[in-house]
Amino acid sequence: MKNLLRLTSVIFLFSFLLSGCYYDKQEELYPYASNCDTAGTMTYTGNIKSIMAANCNACHPNGNSTGVVTVDYTGLKVIAANGQLWSSVNWTGTPMPKNMDKLSECDLNKIKKWVDHGYPEN
Ligand code: HEC
Repeated sequence: MKNLLRLTSVIFLFSFLLSGCYYDKQEELYPYASNCDTAGTMTYTGNIKSIMAANCNACHPNGNSTGVVTVDYTGLKVIAANGQLWSSVNWTGTPMPKNMDKLSECDLNKIKKWVDHGYPEN
């Protein structure tokens, strides 16, 4: 009985110590959220073009076999309008970039905002 009491108090002490040590820092949990600049209007030229260049264009140039073009505004506008751009990068549709990590939270926020606001070119 004495041992059981001792064990119980040790467990309590430990859980108390552990919970006391737990802390959240927004910048550490969401590294992109705090330094991600999504203020103002997102435009193809100013914000989206570079994301496509870094993550999509290698596989989606003009005339590629997938039929999806991300290298220019004309092509990208097609999948922005039909919903495939957002569903692919958000992984609710066919996950893109194919066989790679999901885009950063910051890039996703920019793409979402751009699509929602009618995907302006400039
Ligand atoms: C490594 C090559 C590769 C990269 C990088 C890549 N894609 Fe794809 N993508 C493909 C292939 C191949 C397909 C054809 C479908 C399949 O095989 O999954 C495809 C299909 C798609 C489709 C059509 C999906 C559907 O449901 O029919 C969209 C939209 C798309 N890609 C957008 C993107 C976007 C946006 C990016 C960048 C974030 C990207 N892709 C990056 C290879 C790639």
